[in-house]
Amino acid sequence: MVELQNVSVTYSSGVDALNNVSLKINDGDFAFVVGSSGAGKSTMIKLLLKEIDATSGVVTVNGYNLGKLKKRKIPEFRRTLGFVFQDFRLIPSMTVYENIAFVLRVIDAPLKYIRKRVPYVISLVGLHSKTNSYPDELSGGEKQRVAIARALVNDPQLIIADEPTGNIDPELSYEIVELLKGINDQGTTILMVTHEHDLVRHFGGRIINITGGEIVFDEVISGVDEVLPEEELAQAMAEAAADTGNIVLPDQRIITPDGGYPGADRNGGSEQ
Ligand SMILES: Nc1ncnc2c1ncn2[C@@H]1O[C@H](COP(=O)(O)OP(=O)(O)OP(=O)(O)O)[C@@H](O)[C@H]1O
Ligand SMILES: [Mg+2]
Repeated sequence: MVELQNVSVTYSSGVDALNNVSLKINDGDFAFVVGSSGAGKSTMIKLLLKEIDATSGVVTVNGYNLGKLKKRKIPEFRRTLGFVFQDFRLIPSMTVYENIAFVLRVIDAPLKYIRKRVPYVISLVGLHSKTNSYPDELSGGEKQRVAIARALVNDPQLIIADEPTGNIDPELSYEIVELLKGINDQGTTILMVTHEHDLVRHFGGRIINITGGEIVFDEVISGVDEVLPEEELAQAMAEAAADTGNIVLPDQRIITPDGGYPGADRNGGSEQ
């Protein structure tokens, strides 16, 4: 469970990054956090990881009151969370297996458990065949799946992901969110920051919009199917037409404003 009660953050530079934010995320929720650049999203994430402290207000995560948490208790608290970063943060000199096992080694998990648990989470993210690969032998989407496996291996109550799809191809972004949704179905709470409006529209769910350090929208919306509904398709076509003058047909064929195909020769001669 995550709860912010009247939380403000003012950086030492004087920037007010969060302004009297109150928010509750219950166990088992999946929430997207959206908002423009500089809105305060990462500031909120840093608060939840206790990388920074609130200037005022109360932050509670997984039963820990972070403003009162003693320094020596921070590692214990962080073990209740998994994080996934935009830039993956895998260790280049370690294989997929080692990158994930490392998390359990630092908390002195029994070897027998590590040997069972690591292959299990690797198979959950569909990377069994890459167990012994190094990060630079993986695609962006695969790296992010390793990072998700690593976040999961500890069986955390909450996974926090700050722009996990920011460095991967848009098509793969859907797979990453599908994966996080599957993890959420098993009971893990997920909070995901994203810039990708298409993703949010597609999946729907709870959307929290932070603008200028304040929550301006916090509602559950329904997702849009893979195939765009008629009106949205018309709108997408109109937008494409406004950009280029071209018309994009539903089957992706493009027609130029004068009714021809792009590159088609209207004068009987070559354009080159
Ligand atoms: N360490 C810092 N010191 C001073 N100001 C900061 C610091 N980190 C962020 N800020 C400022 O706080 C505000 C919120 O920044 P934050 O990083 O939370 O935005 P964001 O919503 O994550 O943006 P983005 O989408 O670009 O990642 C911005 O005005 C930013 O310049
Ligand atoms: Mg950010």
